[in-house]
Amino acid sequence: MEIKLDGVEDSLILIKQGAEARVFESTFVGRRSIVKERFSKKYRHPSLDAKLTLKRLNAEARCMTKARKLGVSTPVLYAVDPLLHTLTFEFVEGPAVKDIFLEFGLQGIVEERLDDIATQIGDAIGKLHDGGLIHGDLTTSNMLIRKDTNKLVLIDFGLSFTSTLPEDKAVDLYVLERALLSMHSSCGNVMDKILAAYRKSSKQWSSTLNKLAQVRQRGRKRTMVG
Ligand SMILES: Nc1ncnc2c1ncn2[C@@H]1O[C@H](COP(=O)(O)OP(=O)(O)O)[C@@H](O)[C@H]1O
Ligand SMILES: [Mg+2]
Repeated sequence: MEIKLDGVEDSLILIKQGAEARVFESTFVGRRSIVKERFSKKYRHPSLDAKLTLKRLNAEARCMTKARKLGVSTPVLYAVDPLLHTLTFEFVEGPAVKDIFLEFGLQGIVEERLDDIATQIGDAIGKLHDGGLIHGDLTTSNMLIRKDTNKLVLIDFGLSFTSTLPEDKAVDLYVLERALLSMHSSCGNVMDKILAAYRKSSKQWSSTLNKLAQVRQRGRKRTMVG
């Protein structure tokens, strides 16, 4: 499907329609790019709605830039359009960690590749957390591996926020742990490998991992109650 937005020269190819954003592939000054358009939820007040949409858009751009400053690889941000509510990023060539992990056990990606990716993930999250940045949506779909360098790139800072609370960091890790357990059970103890790298990367690992143990307990109790 090809859609044209006013003021955008190149055609846009829809690659994901979500509840709060549409993601397109396009070109920006001749470069392959991703355009993420936030839109309002219809049930909210229109002008309040536009304000919140713009606030989230700016927050996403700011958090991504902050991550990069903390030494975590993210796509290059090409443009922010406050009128169209779009962010334009560099298109990162390479598979999502989700697809790599799903192949593990089937076609069997080599153990070393899995270890390398797990280490990169733990290292990146440690850097974010020590810098007071919570990703907010750590799933394997929001992690890409650059084809040419095999380096991890974190995307989708749409739910990110700043916090230095161990609780917020622990919940960030817990979201990833749940995602790995449900989607990537064939990857075995990949979360342990991620946490081992996190310990090396984050100076505050001990308070975060203590909290993580509590967050897991709470999760378990919730499941038992039903
Ligand atoms: N910079 C990028 N390079 C390549 N693919 C991307 C990039 N950004 C997003 N994508 C693709 O688009 C999908 C949706 O983008 P994302 O920012 O995660 O939006 P959402 O908030 O809807 O999940 C990603 O899962 C990924 O497949
Ligand atoms: Mg996403």
